[in-house]
Amino acid sequence: MDRIYLDHAATSPMRPQVIEKMLEVMNTTFGNPSSIHSFGREARHYIDLARAAMAESIGAKENEIIFTSGGTEADNMALFGAAESYRQNGKHIITTQIEHHAVLHACNKLEKMGFEVTYLPVDETGRISIQDLKDALRDDTILVSVMYGNNEVGTIQPIKEIGQVLKEHPAKFHTDAVQAYGVEKIDVNECLIDLLSVSAHKINGPKGIGFLYVRSDIKIAPRMFGGEQERKRRAGTENVASIAGFHEAVLIAVKELGTKRQKFNGYKEMFIKELKRQDIAFHVNGFLENSLPHVLNLSFPGTNVEAMLVNLDLAGIAVSSGSACTAGSIEPSHVLVAMYGKDSEKITNSIRFSFGFTTTTEEILKASEETAKAVRRLTK
Ligand SMILES: Cc1ncc(COP(=O)(O)O)c(C=O)c1O
Repeated sequence: MDRIYLDHAATSPMRPQVIEKMLEVMNTTFGNPSSIHSFGREARHYIDLARAAMAESIGAKENEIIFTSGGTEADNMALFGAAESYRQNGKHIITTQIEHHAVLHACNKLEKMGFEVTYLPVDETGRISIQDLKDALRDDTILVSVMYGNNEVGTIQPIKEIGQVLKEHPAKFHTDAVQAYGVEKIDVNECLIDLLSVSAHKINGPKGIGFLYVRSDIKIAPRMFGGEQERKRRAGTENVASIAGFHEAVLIAVKELGTKRQKFNGYKEMFIKELKRQDIAFHVNGFLENSLPHVLNLSFPGTNVEAMLVNLDLAGIAVSSGSACTAGSIEPSHVLVAMYGKDSEKITNSIRFSFGFTTTTEEILKASEETAKAVRRLTK
């Protein structure tokens, strides 16, 4: 049976060019990038090139990019680093109820450390309101962390407007762009973003590597102590092969952003059209338009998520109930709870389909057909 992978928001396969680049680096360049000699300099060169490309991709400067072990570390570095650096200005942090756990659990820990955190609610589409943000801002607010695009339902937050609100306030602005980077055109200057998290494995790069953008006038207390790597902001010998692979993935992502958006939006439309043609009852969680193009989250009344996942898996279709971290556990999705309330049926019958570079029209047609079959079987 041919399997169909529609879980690219959980993780994505590496591009062949990424693997080739990593093999090239592993085969030829073992030097420590901190060494002065030619072996070290060769390794350093790969890092410098990667840093420059990543900075350019978001309109940043090279010295504003810090390599991390992925999105989780970038989020943690932003939150704990800014909290520690600006605690003399206040102890209040604002985030949202629908953040990834890398932000939410970091905020829970910050609360235990004496910080006060406001978790902004969202409406039924998963968006925060700018008025709620304005109302929550206080003189002692030091940090606002609002994700760019949601990993479960794809809803995009009003990032530019948030940047404008914070223009008049000293609080620093962090956004988790782990799902948005590579499918949305992001400019940190246009949106007035101070800190931004990215992860390579969501854009067809290797796992275990990412970066945090830190605007040059923002202070970030380090979380890791040791050598002087990353301008003393993140000690430890760099993962050179992964950084080079990540670089390759970024170049492809930048080049293909436009075509990818068009293709994935087309897949969404096709999926929906097929379900309608088959007379299947469903509801789109979030928006169809103001949403990450690769994420489609649908609720199927009368079904339940575990049975749907098993039925689809038996048909060779890999999808998800939401974020990979909560899949497999019976915990309801905190994102859907924030959108619809804890008693909504949508919490128990929603499925996330997410697309990537390997996804084809044939796969979308087959997946929608199998989804329709599973829904019919479960609602009989
Ligand atoms: C929005 C978001 N933030 C953070 C992360 C964590 O990234 P990583 O897996 O690189 O630690 C993820 C991954 O699922 C994510 O979707």
